[in-house]
Amino acid sequence: MTIPVNVIDHPLIKHKLSLVRSRSTAPDSFRRLIREISWLMAYELTRDLPLEQVTVDTPVASAAVPMLSGKAPCIVSVLRAGNGMLDGFLEVLPSAAVGHIGLVRDPSTLAVSEYYFKMPADIAERRAIIVDPMLATGHSAVAAVRRVLECSVGKLQYACLLAAPEGIAALQAAYTEVEIHTASIDDRLNEYGYIVPGLGDAGDRLFGTT
Ligand code: URA
Repeated sequence: MTIPVNVIDHPLIKHKLSLVRSRSTAPDSFRRLIREISWLMAYELTRDLPLEQVTVDTPVASAAVPMLSGKAPCIVSVLRAGNGMLDGFLEVLPSAAVGHIGLVRDPSTLAVSEYYFKMPADIAERRAIIVDPMLATGHSAVAAVRRVLECSVGKLQYACLLAAPEGIAALQAAYTEVEIHTASIDDRLNEYGYIVPGLGDAGDRLFGTT
């Protein structure tokens, strides 16, 4: 059964996302805002991390307290725009492992091809969170999810800032077991595969390229 998309509905995220959408937001502010939105998303996505009771000595007494148990998640960044979100996730989850997938899309066919893939050796013992700001056609998302699932990860979450209905449909049609988390579902894709109203090219806006 398909897992419903989780649209993270929070006033701070909505406000920051509106600033990110503005064409007058410069790369330095854009990067900071994406990092801040990613903190808030990381907080939501990790609500179900397992805990175990451990004993600590406070300055006053010994106490049984909850701490995270097992290996931290692996954050998988889809290059290059995923790196904007990766930074925010790592600030909230400093012990996370990191993987990278390099995917490039042909501007005329929108087909994707992989040029880089590097995951931690123990990724199968972790949950994975794929980060990529824009779920547009879904071609990159489907390719990234396929490659990460080949690594036998436990749970798999896909986190993006903006999702187009077309991209959600494509990813859900290919993989029902993936949780999709987004800050917004936008209206549609245009003829160039850009999300409308969107925020433009996330990689270019992060890194000041055109
Ligand atoms: N990738 C982007 O960076 N922006 C879009 O709108 C779609 C894909």
